[in-house]
Formats: sequence, C-alpha cells, structure tokens
Amino acid sequence: MELSRLVFSLFIFCFNGFKCCLSDNNKRWKSYLSKITDATKNYKPCIQKNYSCHLSILKDDLMPFQNGISEGLMADTVHRGVGTHYQIIGHKLYREQSCMFLARCSGIEHFILKVIDRLPDLEVVINVRDYPQVPRWVQPVLPVLSFSKTSEYKDIMYPAWTFWEGGPAIWPIYPTGLGRWDLMRDDLNKSAAQWPWKKKITKGFFRGSRTSSERDPLILLSRESPDLVDAEYTKNQAWKSEKDTLGRPPAKEIPLVNHCEYKYLFNFRGVAASFRFKHLFLCGSLVFHIGEEWLEFFYPQLKPWVHYIPVKQDLSNISELLQFVKENDGVAKEIAMRGKKFILDHLRIEDIYFYWERLLTDFGKLLKYKPKRKSNYSQILSRPTRLEL
Ligand SMILES: *[C@@H]1O[C@H](CO)[C@@H](O)[C@H](O)[C@H]1NC(C)=O
Ligand SMILES: *[C@@H]1O[C@H](CO)[C@@H](O)[C@H](O)[C@H]1NC(C)=O
Ligand SMILES: *[C@@H]1O[C@H](CO)[C@@H](O)[C@H](O)[C@H]1NC(C)=O
Ligand SMILES: *[C@@H]1O[C@H](CO)[C@@H](O)[C@H](O)[C@H]1NC(C)=O
Repeated sequence: MELSRLVFSLFIFCFNGFKCCLSDNNKRWKSYLSKITDATKNYKPCIQKNYSCHLSILKDDLMPFQNGISEGLMADTVHRGVGTHYQIIGHKLYREQSCMFLARCSGIEHFILKVIDRLPDLEVVINVRDYPQVPRWVQPVLPVLSFSKTSEYKDIMYPAWTFWEGGPAIWPIYPTGLGRWDLMRDDLNKSAAQWPWKKKITKGFFRGSRTSSERDPLILLSRESPDLVDAEYTKNQAWKSEKDTLGRPPAKEIPLVNHCEYKYLFNFRGVAASFRFKHLFLCGSLVFHIGEEWLEFFYPQLKPWVHYIPVKQDLSNISELLQFVKENDGVAKEIAMRGKKFILDHLRIEDIYFYWERLLTDFGKLLKYKPKRKSNYSQILSRPTRLEL
C-alpha cells in the first residue's frame, strides 16, 4: 500500500516534471516552432507535370520576352560576348569556336544533345561564367541563359553544367570536379542509409575554403563551442598562408558522402549559388541554408522551415538555431526528411533533361525569325558517356 502510493506519487511527480520541461521548451522556442508549423501548414507540395514541378520559374524567367525575340536583339546579344552562341538547326547542334570553359560547355552540350531530336530550330546565348550577365535595369533585356542569379538580374536560368561535368575540382577528393549527378545521388543515398538520423553525430559540420569572410562566424563558433559545430577551412588554389584559413593550418578535404555522419550541414554561396546545396539534402541531414539571395532553377520549390533552416547572411543567431535543433530533435529530423525526399523525388537526372527540353522548346517559340546556320561554326557531337563521378 505504502509502496504503491510512493510509486504513484513518484509517477505524478515525474509526469509533471516532464510536462513542465516540455512547456519550457515550447516557450523558449515558440517563435521557431511556430515558423515551422506555419510553413508546413501553408506548404503546397510541388506538383509534377511532365516530370517537372519547376516550370513556374521558367515561365517567370521568360516573361520579359513574351512579345518575342527579334533577330536584331539576338544579334546584339551575340555581339556583346556575354556567353557562348549555340545554334540548333535540323536537330543538329552548332557552336561558335570559342568557349570560355570547355568542360562547362561540354556539361551543357550533354543535356542539349540528349533532347535535341525533339527541339525546334533555334539559337541561344549561354553564359558559362559563374556570374549572371543581365542586370534588371538594362534595356532592352537581353536573352541570356545563366545557371544562377539573384532578383537583381533577368538572366534565364538553366540547370548547371555540374549536373554532368565541369564542376570545380577539389584535390584530392574530386580531381575532375563534382559531376554526374545521377551517380552522386546514388552514392549519397547509400551513405545516408549507413548514417540514419539516430546514428548521426549531433553536431554541425562544415569543410570548405574561405572564398569569403562570410563563413568566418561559423568557424569561430566551432573553435568556441566544438560540441555544437565542427567547422574548419580547407585550402583553396589561392592559399598562401594560415591567414587564408583564419589563423589555423588548413583542414583536410572530406568527401561529401562523409558529411552524412553529421546531423547539421551548412550551405554557403560561392561566387554565385553553391553547387553543394542539392547534395547536402541527400545525406538525410538537416540543411542550414545561409542567405536567400542566390538562386538556381530548382531553389524556389524548396521552402524555408519546410525543407531547410534559413540563416541570415551575417550568421546572426546561428548558435541559437543550432541549440534549437538540438533540443527539438524530432522537428529537426522531419525537416531533414522532407528535404531529402524533395531532392530524391523532384531533382532526378530525368528532371534535368526535361527542364532543358522545356526551356529550349519554349525559348525557341519566342524567336520571331528562322535562324540561319553560321557556316563557320562547328557541329558538336555526343561524346562517350563519362562513367565516373
Ligand atoms: C506535357 O508534354 C506534352 C508533350 O510534350 C505537352 O503537349 C503538354 O502540354 C505538357 N503538359 C504540361 C502540363 O506541361
Ligand atoms: C565566323 O565568321 C564571322 C564573319 O562572318 C567572324 O566574325 C567570326 O569571327 C567567325 N567565327 C569563327 C568561329 O571563325
Ligand atoms: C535510396 O536508398 C533507399 C535505401 O536506403 C532505397 O530504398 C531507395 O530506393 C533509394 N532511392 C533512390 C532514389 O536511389
Ligand atoms: C536572434 O536572437 C535574438 C536573441 O536571442 C532575438 O532577439 C532575435 O529576434 C533573433 N533574430 C532572429 C532573426 O531570429
């Protein structure tokens, strides 16, 4: 009798204690929790039509050209040298001799050649630099395709060359650059299976070079609170001294599949959008996305608090956010799972082929003239398929 009463009151005591801690937790993290609740409630899942759920961004990008593209405007665009001039005539692909980065052009040509049998005759200028080329204040708006932009630009976004090849080489782990998205997806998905959420280390993780000082606060937080985040700078080509790695020796490069060991991963922009973003989700880790400015064609369908944790450019509150996800593990895991599922379902290599096809088909329809083949351009033929990443 005495014992059961003791057990009972102990139970009530523990239960109240648990309840009180839960509500303390809810109070402390109320603003973040309600952001997540609102975002998931308002989220309309991407609807897949003809493979793509990304067509609304294509429509937006082509809007400035809804009255058509004249031969004069195209000639002007070609003349300015803001990109590589391609022609598609009779289902064959032609290119001007010069291309600023051959591997990037090759990465683009892979996709065009894959869908060329279904394309109308057209010509187009494709920018293979990192940076967009059409500031919004320039009139008339030039029709230029670029892989990434901010809202300050009117470039038309195309799926980057890095889905196939031409990505930045990282010695020694990716000597020929990050490439073959289809193979990378499989590798990362396998690694994710080896590192399910409950096995992952409950910490933030980052390895990358100091392309800008924007990343410094995370590195400094790691030195101050190594139990919260493990973030170090690696060498880049320009590395001269420890000043370039914020006063410490450079860290070793870590292949992306090994990032899956950690629960929280960070995406910073590079010169433009970062190619890393899409990869991080596939680990099944929670992605912290820093800054909302730089876009690729598939970003608008990824939503803050639904698929990733948005972080301000200046990294203010990063330590609070890490604390939040540590103390709300279930919520964090759900966001990570939604992010992974989105990329697995809606960013397949087929989706990339399809986007290229729709982009060039719709762009071709806007030309108000029949393009004439330039006799001194060379035909681009398919190359043997690369079998490595
Ligand atoms: C899907 O593709 C077909 C053939 O390419 C086209 O006729 C149709 O309009 C497309 N549907 C959507 C919703 O884009
Ligand atoms: C092709 O010919 C035009 C003149 O018709 C010239 O301006 C251009 O440089 C030539 N391009 C190549 C790739 O030889
Ligand atoms: C990813 O891996 C899981 C096994 O962990 C498997 O069931 C699933 O089919 C894989 N998905 C893709 C798209 O490869
Ligand atoms: C950042 O944290 C501070 C203090 O915890 C808080 O007052 C502020 O609202 C937070 N900022 C954002 C953008 O959440």
